Amino acid sequence: MSGKFITLEGIDGSGKTTQGFFLKNKLEEFGKDVLFTREPGGVKGAEEIRNLLVQGEKDRWSNITEILLFFASRRHHLEKVLLPAINKGKVVICDRFTDSTIIYQGRENIHLKKMIIELNKSVIGIVPDLTLIIDIDPTKSLNRGLSRKSDEMRFERFGLEFQATARNGYISLAKTDKRYQLIDGNNSKDKVHQMIWNKVSKFLSLKL
Ligand code: TYD
Repeated sequence: MSGKFITLEGIDGSGKTTQGFFLKNKLEEFGKDVLFTREPGGVKGAEEIRNLLVQGEKDRWSNITEILLFFASRRHHLEKVLLPAINKGKVVICDRFTDSTIIYQGRENIHLKKMIIELNKSVIGIVPDLTLIIDIDPTKSLNRGLSRKSDEMRFERFGLEFQATARNGYISLAKTDKRYQLIDGNNSKDKVHQMIWNKVSKFLSLKL
């Protein structure tokens, strides 16, 4: 792999998407060839699977079916978008990746978590070079999410407790590997961008 693979993680409404665009623009100012993409989705077939996942009633899928849908979508995205871009030397920024599945689908059940880790090894096989986790108070982020009024409310419907558990999961995950960088998202957009840029510019050895 010649490019770099950076992922953005955090609970719903943590500002990942806004920060992803800011980061892409900044990297382009430094002459980098950047691809900003997202999961679930990022390419037609995977976006179709996304609609099955983010819309509708919260109990429409069993736990295992839901995990398989996330991995079907991820595998397609990997083949069609992520690997080609990384192999071309691009800096790929992805809004969510396997860490989201570990946190959201693996949060309460150790067997499901193990299944996710195994599936990831066998059907995905790549690990991000850097993962920025935007940490935010779930009350704040949930209000942002609910005020968006989109069709994609399935996960927001799980409520505050779910988001709080996910937040704690991310904080624990951040301690398990040095690729994780926890960013304090309870700040202004510009401040958060600055903190992210600090980490990314160091990681890519870019002169400020
Ligand atoms: P996303 O579009 O990132 O939502 P947001 O912009 O609100 O953060 O992701 C859609 C939803 O899918 C989100 O609620 C989290 C959920 N999700 C999982 O549960 N598992 C996964 O593996 C991924 C990638 C997303």
